[in-house]
Amino acid sequence: MNITIINGPNLNLLGTRETDIYGGKSFESYLDSLKASFPKITIQYFQSNVEGEIINKIHEFKESDGIILNAAAYTHTSIGIADAVKSIDCKVIEVHISNTHSREEFRHKSFLSPVVDGIIIGFGLDSYRLAIESLVT
Ligand code: DQA
Repeated sequence: MNITIINGPNLNLLGTRETDIYGGKSFESYLDSLKASFPKITIQYFQSNVEGEIINKIHEFKESDGIILNAAAYTHTSIGIADAVKSIDCKVIEVHISNTHSREEFRHKSFLSPVVDGIIIGFGLDSYRLAIESLVT
């Protein structure tokens, strides 16, 4: 099984960015433990701060068994990423580390939620593990 994780803008700074909200762990070190928990799954990881690069990766990984997408701030703004998700057949799970609904109102709107297969929000980095579980079961 091949699963692709795509992280959007500023998630490269996990571990140092707003640690009260996102925690003190870098995504790379979390990814190591995630891969160890699912030894039979090939987990590919891509992060970009650029909207078009995220769209290109969604196209590129459309043959994956699933895409786990944390589009970060683009979640709340990007019709282009939503259209890319709509354009592919592979399952896409929207993930957020923080509970976006308990934060500022502009984070309550997601252009992705209506077009993804499922949504996991607010479990910290564990949201990514839960998303993988949803794809393997
Ligand atoms: C986020 C929530 C977004 O509102 C924010 O812009 C992020 C991270 C999360 O994982 O909690 O960058 O997607």
